[in-house]
Amino acid sequence: MDKYLKVNPITFEETLPIWSKHLWPGRKSDIEQVSCINQVGDIDVEIKNFSPEFYGCFLKEEMAGVISCHPINKKVLRLRGIYVFEKFRKNGVGSLLIRMVKQRAFEVECQNVFGLVRTINQPYFERHDFAAYKSISGYEYGPHVLMGLGLNSLATPL
Ligand SMILES: CC(C)(COP(=O)(O)OP(=O)(O)OC[C@H]1O[C@@H](n2cnc3c(N)ncnc32)[C@H](O)[C@@H]1OP(=O)(O)O)[C@@H](O)C(=O)NCCC(=O)NCCS
Repeated sequence: MDKYLKVNPITFEETLPIWSKHLWPGRKSDIEQVSCINQVGDIDVEIKNFSPEFYGCFLKEEMAGVISCHPINKKVLRLRGIYVFEKFRKNGVGSLLIRMVKQRAFEVECQNVFGLVRTINQPYFERHDFAAYKSISGYEYGPHVLMGLGLNSLATPL
């Protein structure tokens, strides 16, 4: 199926309904375009000054999954909000979306990518060269772990 999949930029308005209905159903905190959580899990409102990007993965015209990314400073890119619709799972959609964020990190010369990952998905991100460096509790949707990607993995663009 891989060769029929395409990743294209989309808008926050297109992403938000998918996030609110599927990724974060019943979420108590507002879903903002940019998350102010930094790479050590603290709130940093300066992050709001950076522009987010949103991507959709499409099989022909049908949306299969979404992801977002935004810098949190000049050197670090946050990967955020990956969601693949159930019927498209296990077809490489999530992998393509993660590769897109890695490519963007390479293009904007960020030296690191990090994500705040549900602990249940830690093995999935490890498959994509992320390493866990800090456990975080207290956020909605269960225990999370901060995971980061180093320069070496960014050296190979798509
Ligand atoms: C996690 C998710 C993005 C994976 O998307 P996907 O398109 O199915 O992923 P891929 O096709 O690239 O990879 C599938 C492989 O990863 C494995 N995988 C998926 N989730 C996994 C997990 N949590 N732990 C370990 N392996 C996992 C699959 O079993 C499959 O393995 P296989 O190739 O050996 O069959 C998708 O399951 C999803 O949207 N989940 C719900 C939303 C979510 O949890 N988002 C992340 C929040 S941190």
